[in-house]
Amino acid sequence: MLELKQLSKRYATGDLALNGVDLEVPAGQVLALIGPSGAGKSTLIRCINRLVEPISGTVMLDGEKLSGLRGGKLRLARRQIGMIFQSYALVERLSVMENVLSGRLGYIGFWRSLLRKYDSADIKQACELLDRVGLLSMLDKRGDALSGGQKQRVGIARALMQQPKLLLVDEPTASLDPKTSRQIMRLIVELCREQNLAVIINIHDVALAQQFVDRVVGLAAGEVVFDGRPDELTEETLTLIYGEEDWSTDAEDGEHGEDEESGDESETGDPLNNIAKGAHP
Ligand SMILES: Nc1ncnc2c1ncn2[C@@H]1O[C@H](COP(=O)(O)OP(=O)(O)O)[C@@H](O)[C@H]1O
Ligand SMILES: [Mg+2]
Repeated sequence: MLELKQLSKRYATGDLALNGVDLEVPAGQVLALIGPSGAGKSTLIRCINRLVEPISGTVMLDGEKLSGLRGGKLRLARRQIGMIFQSYALVERLSVMENVLSGRLGYIGFWRSLLRKYDSADIKQACELLDRVGLLSMLDKRGDALSGGQKQRVGIARALMQQPKLLLVDEPTASLDPKTSRQIMRLIVELCREQNLAVIINIHDVALAQQFVDRVVGLAAGEVVFDGRPDELTEETLTLIYGEEDWSTDAEDGEHGEDEESGDESETGDPLNNIAKGAHP
């Protein structure tokens, strides 16, 4: 499905953000890319959809080489790649429905998009997705009237509206409270499994990643230093990824007495603790 070979990126500032990354993600797999701030997670995602130009290496999607594509061909290829952002990236003055429909813009062409003309099949699909993310009753609300969690639900529906093969998700929960974060992660993972998408989720919250994904890749200073199942992450590996000091700070997060509505999630916010308890789905 997605295949990265020896992908490297050096920014004009001289920072080597990615250093020869090899990665394959099959259809239907949800992969969490973890690592400290500055590890290169966002750069990796941006190199895949070519928002950032790698200095070397190749990106193959479904047998098609994305590296080197330009203009219309690049646009067509990008249609297959959905994006979900930390900051939601909604058009605040547009309705929930219009925001979701805008996921179709890559398909309907310039003039129709200018007139925002969508056909009834698109509207039906948008309604189905809004129902699936629990926002059907809010379809005429403006983007700026929504809570963070609701905005991210719209972001998810919009990305899936595009009918992508690959979904790239950059820190989807970094602006959300712990409970909403879990709901959003669960929703993304469920929907992607239903639709058999390949998914890369950049996330710095290890416990959250471990709870929901099939595979964890650890990035440190632009290199893959771990690739395995969530339950294979050891204290040693986490130290390799995050370093000693950062790690201890991270482990103090969570456990701030948020109220749970269901008892199915027992994590304490301390991933090491969770590993010890074997707390995996
Ligand atoms: N637009 C940019 N220009 C210059 N350097 C950048 C840019 N974006 C990221 N970097 C650098 O590349 C490295 C990786 O950053 P990034 O991919 O944002 O990491 P992460 O998402 O894991 O926090 C960092 O050293 C960062 O400072
Ligand atoms: Mg980032």
